[in-house]
Amino acid sequence: MPLMIPRVHPPRPDWYEEFYAVAMDASMKSYEAEIAGYKSELFANLTGKAAKILEIGIGTGPNLKYYGNLASGASVVGVDPNRKMEKYAQAAAQASGLSPTKFKFVNAVAEALPVSDASMDAVVGTLVLCSVKDVNKALQEVKRVLKPGGIYIFVEHVAAEDGTFLKVIQRALDPLQQVVADGCHLTRETGHIISAAGFSSTDIKKVFLSSASLINPHAYGIAYK
Ligand SMILES: C[S@@+](CC[C@H](N)C(=O)[O-])C[C@H]1O[C@@H](n2cnc3c(N)ncnc32)[C@H](O)[C@@H]1O
Repeated sequence: MPLMIPRVHPPRPDWYEEFYAVAMDASMKSYEAEIAGYKSELFANLTGKAAKILEIGIGTGPNLKYYGNLASGASVVGVDPNRKMEKYAQAAAQASGLSPTKFKFVNAVAEALPVSDASMDAVVGTLVLCSVKDVNKALQEVKRVLKPGGIYIFVEHVAAEDGTFLKVIQRALDPLQQVVADGCHLTRETGHIISAAGFSSTDIKKVFLSSASLINPHAYGIAYK
């Protein structure tokens, strides 16, 4: 078992991991349809360039379809502590045309990435920093594994503005959300944390997505090592 998983992400019962994987697989279709335009624009930055990509918290693999136009020889490592995500991610990789030799699922956490320093052209993470135990450690790991000039592509839901009704609801529901959605926090200031993480530059935008309900707004963009 990769280093730090028990401390960072204590093992969940099998049934809970399965429940969460099934829920993610079944419930995200309208969200994925709405975010598709934003993702297409972001992932176009990988086309023909990035040879080695690592995705943190890959889940069921909804981003794998965006890796279809990668340079020949490109490969993707998907990291996730939930073992029940693997079958969905492998199916998504196959559907996207990535050959089994080009996609590897690794049971690990973002806070201890199982790859060497400066070995990746790009790191991708969508809807994952809400769930990691230590956001700053995860971002330090993203920077560690990126090659100089490498890019970190992200789409994350973040806390609503203070003083809004949405923020009040998010605060009230945050504890419940963490129980039903495997540690997901509704009120993390993830956009600010990415901006302050020490990348050489960060392009970040915000959008409200109607399909995401309380899980809004979303911060998305690219950070450059
Ligand atoms: C809301 S899901 C998002 C999955 C996928 N990225 C997507 O966009 O649908 C959050 C994912 O983060 C994973 N996760 C939770 N803690 C993590 C950690 N410490 N490191 C990496 N992934 C983690 C969960 O197992 C889950 O697959």
